[in-house]
Amino acid sequence: MIASKLPNVGTTIFSRMSQLAAETGALNLSQGFPDFDGPAALREAVARHIAEGHNQYAPMTGLPALRQQIASKVRALYGRAVDADAEITVTPGATEAIFCAVQALIRPGDEAIVLDPCYDSYEPAVELAGGRCVHVPLALPDFAVDWQRLADAITPRTRLLFLNSPHNPSGALLGRDDLDRLAQLLRDRDIHVISDEVYEHLVFDGARHASVLAHDELYARAFVVSSFGKTYHVTGWKTGYVVAPPALSAELRKIHQYVTFCGVTPLQHALADFMASHPQHLAELPAFYQAKRDLFCDLLADSAFRFTRAAGTYFQVVDYSAIRDDLDDVRMAEWLTREHGVASIPVSVFYREPPAGARLVRFCFAKREDTLRQAAERLCAVR
Ligand SMILES: Cc1ncc(COP(=O)(O)O)c(C=O)c1O
Repeated sequence: MIASKLPNVGTTIFSRMSQLAAETGALNLSQGFPDFDGPAALREAVARHIAEGHNQYAPMTGLPALRQQIASKVRALYGRAVDADAEITVTPGATEAIFCAVQALIRPGDEAIVLDPCYDSYEPAVELAGGRCVHVPLALPDFAVDWQRLADAITPRTRLLFLNSPHNPSGALLGRDDLDRLAQLLRDRDIHVISDEVYEHLVFDGARHASVLAHDELYARAFVVSSFGKTYHVTGWKTGYVVAPPALSAELRKIHQYVTFCGVTPLQHALADFMASHPQHLAELPAFYQAKRDLFCDLLADSAFRFTRAAGTYFQVVDYSAIRDDLDDVRMAEWLTREHGVASIPVSVFYREPPAGARLVRFCFAKREDTLRQAAERLCAVR
């Protein structure tokens, strides 16, 4: 036996719910991945690059052609001219980028602020670096930043703040005014930002994603992380990237080169090709996922679940208090899976201290139309 460095970590709820869905034959709307494939041209490009012999290590910072494509996108969407050599690093998934950024920033005794509910990889990364997470809850019902609580949570030991917009699990968006307010709060403080923007292209109802990349003051202290897995429907490729000013990128790369060294070569070639040949993919994504959100929400309108439509991401949070107020959300998610054949994720698992009495579960709507129709039919029968 060894003493665990992460004594509070077990198998994640995402693995557990996917496993329960498989065991019970339930429709799996729990873990966040599509049940459809990424674009054929993208998949064919991987096969072609493997056949052509692009099978050895990629450059540590990422394939130059892919970094150029990312730089073009960042300029076009967020108006920032980034140096593809000094500011962009391709990583095996957003998760590795986040992990390396945390290791670059956090020393023993440091504090990192997370806004609950939050993605589950942040805290273990901070703890492995010897730091501690300070949890600040977002304000219900709309998961907005509670600025007073955030300001109160800052101490002389605070080194890092995690942002995530569009937000998993709630689907809420930060606005430009939120970023301005945050910049004001952090001004003259030695606090960096990891901005997790993996759902940057999944924003609905005509909203625009307010990226830290478009904010000069925040970008100067930030690592901005994205994921090709979300953007191109290929979560299993575990390929992402991080954009940060040169000095921050240099420190992140010192760690990245000893964690994984580089991302998977043929995937990077294929993504670079596809970004160049299919620029419209990004522009089409919001409508593609908004149609799925609207189908799912329209079909759920007659159910006993209550919800506000997600403003972004591919997740829809629903309140089930009118159905089984007697069950906490973990038991509700299990009950829904076993008895009604639809797997979800309980929202409490994204919190250090879940709000008392909250009755929320999250469904992933990155699913084919027939899956969403079947799931909604089953959910409408739940009373
Ligand atoms: C908020 C958030 N950040 C990061 C990730 C991880 O992205 P990747 O699969 O590229 O590591 C996810 C995946 O679910 C996520 O929801």
